[in-house]
Amino acid sequence: MLTGSRVAQPLRQRRIRPRFWLLDFYGSAIGKKAVMAVTGLLLLGFVLTHMLGNLHMYQDAEHMNHYGEYLRTIGEPILPHTGFLWIMRGGLILAFALHIHSAATLTLLNRESRAVGYKGGRTYVAANYAARTMRWSGIIVGAYLLFHLMDLTWGVGVATSSYTRGTPYENLVASFQREPVAAVYIVANLLLGIHIYHGAWSLFQSLGWANPRFNDWRRMFAIGFAALVVVGNVSFPIAVMTGIVE
Ligand code: HEM
Repeated sequence: MLTGSRVAQPLRQRRIRPRFWLLDFYGSAIGKKAVMAVTGLLLLGFVLTHMLGNLHMYQDAEHMNHYGEYLRTIGEPILPHTGFLWIMRGGLILAFALHIHSAATLTLLNRESRAVGYKGGRTYVAANYAARTMRWSGIIVGAYLLFHLMDLTWGVGVATSSYTRGTPYENLVASFQREPVAAVYIVANLLLGIHIYHGAWSLFQSLGWANPRFNDWRRMFAIGFAALVVVGNVSFPIAVMTGIVE
């Protein structure tokens, strides 16, 4: 027969086992929001830099291809060829994975903690259109990213017709000359704009900087950032389709 003390012992041990504080923090809703905000900020930095870099397309093939090669040589000779690029890729993959994980587990946490289910369907009093579409726009942008990597980085599968490593300009033009592909890029980047708008707006709240006095600035930042990235990105397939870039 089990005595009270024999049963209590493992329970006590379980309770006092120390957990790394960062894991505890990440286990809370506030921690997940903070991780989503910080990784979102890093991803915003990436999409802006990527769009600005792609503007080389408006110069000519030589500048664009040179820029692509330059990215592979940053840090040489201290780092090996493509060393810097791989460090950036590692950070980007980690940020992307944490962004998705925190979003998914926060949704589950919210569902669990909701004491009473909705009656008569959901009512979206506080959540605006962008907030409601965050999940869907995020999933579609993720699928688009996979297509985009197959198309212009790996050069594999149905996404690509004539891919040559080291010539991003020619790859881009060949890709956007196919109307369905150009349409995929345009639609996905418009959705990315909705995702960025809401993300850029809410990340301040998630980081605790939500004084209503700054709401106008937050909104301007979110609209300005999303518009800049979307206008830049959507202009590329349009420029190829209209023959501005050949
Ligand atoms: C129309 C808009 C876009 C254009 C024209 C474009 C163009 C390109 C090109 C040419 C490359 C290959 C670079 C090279 O091999 O040197 C590339 C890679 C990549 N793009 Fe985009 N991109 C666009 C939008 C996006 C967006 C919205 C995202 C993110 C959501 C994104 C994420 C990436 C990533 C992660 C890579 C791989 C970078 C690497 O590891 O080398 N791109 N893009």
